[in-house]
Amino acid sequence: MKLGSFSILVAAWIVSCVRASTTSTFSPARPPAIPLAVRSPYLSTWLDVGSDGGDGGYLAGEWPDFWSNQITGWAGMIRVDGQVYTWMGLPGTTTVTQLAFEYTSTRSVFIMNVGGMVQMNITFLSPITPDDMKRQSLVFSYLHVDVVSTDGNEHDVQLYADISAEWVSGDRTAVAQWDYGVTDDGVAYHRVYRQTQLLFSENTDQGEWGYWYWATDNRAGLTYQSGRDVDVRGSFSSNGLLGNSKDTKYRAISNDWPVFGFANDLGSVNSTTASALFSIGLTQDKAVQYERTSGVVSLPSLWTSYFSTELDALEFFHNDYSHAATLSTDFDSRVETDSLAAGGQDYLTITSLSARQALGATQLCGTQDEYYLFMKEISSDGNVNTVDVIFPAHPFFLYANPEFLKLLLDPLFEIQESGLYPNTWSMHDIGSRYPNATGHNNGDDEPMPLEECGDMLIMTLAYALKAQDTNFLKQHYTLLKQWTSYLVADALYPSNQISTDDFAGSLANQTNLALKGMIGIEAMAVIANLTGHTADAKNFTNIAHNYIAQWQVLGVAHDANPPHSTLAYGANDTHGLLYNLYADAELGLDLVPQSVYEMQSNFYQTVQLTYGVPLDTRHNYTKGDWEMFTAAVASKSTQQMFIHDLAVWIDQTPTNRAMTDLYNTVGGNYPEVTFVARPVVGGSFALLLLQEGL
Ligand SMILES: *[C@@H]1O[C@H](CO)[C@@H](O)[C@H](O)[C@H]1NC(C)=O
Ligand SMILES: *[C@@H]1O[C@H](CO)[C@@H](O)[C@H](O)[C@H]1NC(C)=O
Ligand SMILES: *[C@@H]1O[C@H](CO)[C@@H](O)[C@H](O)[C@H]1NC(C)=O
Ligand SMILES: *[C@@H]1O[C@H](CO)[C@@H](O)[C@H](O)[C@H]1NC(C)=O
Ligand SMILES: *[C@@H]1O[C@H](CO)[C@@H](O)[C@H](O)[C@H]1NC(C)=O
Ligand SMILES: *[C@@H]1O[C@H](CO)[C@@H](O)[C@H](O)[C@H]1NC(C)=O
Ligand SMILES: *[C@@H]1O[C@H](CO)[C@@H](O)[C@H](O)[C@H]1NC(C)=O
Ligand SMILES: *[C@@H]1O[C@H](CO)[C@@H](O)[C@H](O)[C@H]1NC(C)=O
Repeated sequence: MKLGSFSILVAAWIVSCVRASTTSTFSPARPPAIPLAVRSPYLSTWLDVGSDGGDGGYLAGEWPDFWSNQITGWAGMIRVDGQVYTWMGLPGTTTVTQLAFEYTSTRSVFIMNVGGMVQMNITFLSPITPDDMKRQSLVFSYLHVDVVSTDGNEHDVQLYADISAEWVSGDRTAVAQWDYGVTDDGVAYHRVYRQTQLLFSENTDQGEWGYWYWATDNRAGLTYQSGRDVDVRGSFSSNGLLGNSKDTKYRAISNDWPVFGFANDLGSVNSTTASALFSIGLTQDKAVQYERTSGVVSLPSLWTSYFSTELDALEFFHNDYSHAATLSTDFDSRVETDSLAAGGQDYLTITSLSARQALGATQLCGTQDEYYLFMKEISSDGNVNTVDVIFPAHPFFLYANPEFLKLLLDPLFEIQESGLYPNTWSMHDIGSRYPNATGHNNGDDEPMPLEECGDMLIMTLAYALKAQDTNFLKQHYTLLKQWTSYLVADALYPSNQISTDDFAGSLANQTNLALKGMIGIEAMAVIANLTGHTADAKNFTNIAHNYIAQWQVLGVAHDANPPHSTLAYGANDTHGLLYNLYADAELGLDLVPQSVYEMQSNFYQTVQLTYGVPLDTRHNYTKGDWEMFTAAVASKSTQQMFIHDLAVWIDQTPTNRAMTDLYNTVGGNYPEVTFVARPVVGGSFALLLLQEGL
């Protein structure tokens, strides 16, 4: 049937009515942005949601985008008995009707009703396989589509999906090149890349080098085409198939927008499910620059150790779907069972949204003999393996696989133990801009000495206890002791400095920061004991206990009603989240008396605003990661308050980019500073880790 203009008008009217009267369900919540393909700093595509317009969260009708906001064109259309509907992006005007959206730790699933004839289940799976480095090393993600007839009739169905060249560079004037092929094992792929490769460079945070693969099964009924967006999509809309043709006019990304399409003729679809599987991913032979004493070296992506060619990697990934899906379901189930037991459904709403985001800021690099996990401090400044970003995220990594935490810490130890960093305190990061882990030979990194020394000591012990790796402590004893000396000098009366919450400004005598330093000293006492340095253990535990006794006088407003810790010593009318208390419980130190835990638990309930408790008295904004650290060591009712507020915020926030960790507790929007997609959301696993124990 040909659509006349009247039918088009009617169809458009029906769509708007449907959209207005039928809203999709969102389960367990409608998050600020939906992760679609999120696996590394450069494979990070989302569907922005927000709730400002009241209409976010629909896969059809809006373009997916990279975390830093530029579109990564990804389009889907379906043709049912000759009628064309858009199911992803904005390639056409008539959209499917979204019935439901659901997320787990590894999946985002959309259920679509297509004209009352067929139903589509669309699954975006970004696998998390923590115990399987081979699979985890691949920077690839799946899109799986099921189609089934729902009205008792058979329907003639063709399914279309494409990507645009926007995936290959943040510079829309950059020239893209591409080709098409089929592997020996029958994987059909478009390969798209920046014609001029700019190794280790970024533009608008997209990687400017490497090769993008967009693939599907090469089977009967598959057609492909590269070319101008309107031509390729138009060919599908009119004919339900593509020309098996390749546009050879390589050109700028924005010049007649080249797209790379696949059309699957699913034939006659009845009540038996018909499916199509797509893979999207990035291969970069060389992934990061890394500073060694011998100079700066290029480290390969770890997948190059397992696969001799890019096509082998692609083929393995694509054909591995059912296995990767099973492993991902295992991870989903583990997070679900543990989260429900620890904090209920609201808690699962938070943890399951955080998992892909936390891991998605990292990439495994090196060789099988010697590999590392590199992390990008996404959106705040792009630093590499920032200590005070790994710290808030570390509960996720320890929970997923303790080795991940070691792999994040190893480069920090290596660079500092090689004498490549001049300061006596811990460095802030190993490079100002991902993917260049080229160190700070001048010691000119962002100075957060107390914060980073405390973080390193706490995380090192946490890893060693969880992995039962005492050797790790022996190996790094000298440097750990050096950092402890810094803490002994500075933790009781912290000098005027910034904490990890640098956006809030610097301050002397920060109560929460001092606490971290003292816990760090006690952590060192345990480390000393575990490595046979009993005299050190005695010395450091004495100091830590002496300090903590003074801290309870200096840092607490005892006369307040109710009493509480202060933001800074003596400032009795101030308060803040005492999130560093978490490490005392995590490490089982018992340094801080239970009365402090109880005092704080009782206090937080009195300063709750709409979406949580402010970070401190200077502002009304808060940090979701620190709220989750705080909640983990609070009484059950205070814990539930924090968890509930954050889960409600996730569902209601007007912010509309990959989940921010910094938000206003009143109104739920961004404060002056906009954080996006930062890995620190891994801090939501704090309670899970505490329940599981080290
Ligand atoms: C599609 O999703 C619906 C709703 O979750 C479910 O009942 C159905 O089994 C799914 N179909 C397939 C083929 O997975
Ligand atoms: C990394 O360093 C190289 C020089 O080695 C430079 O060309 C590139 O722009 C840097 N990348 C970033 C993201 O700053
Ligand atoms: C549905 O279609 C499949 C695949 O074409 C076919 O094998 C099956 O017999 C059909 N089932 C019914 C109930 O017609
Ligand atoms: C205890 O440690 C501090 C800081 O490293 C050091 O200055 C002091 O000499 C040590 N005391 C003993 C008795 O070892
Ligand atoms: C820190 O607090 C102590 C004790 O109240 C005080 O003597 C000192 O002046 C404070 N330091 C700064 C830099 O304000
Ligand atoms: C170190 O070991 C000794 C002897 O077992 C013990 O008494 C002490 O409490 C330990 N110290 C710490 C900080 O664990
Ligand atoms: C803060 O309160 C403590 C007791 O809770 C008191 O000793 C101290 O003098 C107060 N500080 C100020 C500046 O009022
Ligand atoms: C926090 O929000 C409350 C309620 O809207 C307002 O009265 C107060 O001034 C705000 N505080 C700050 C520090 O912005």
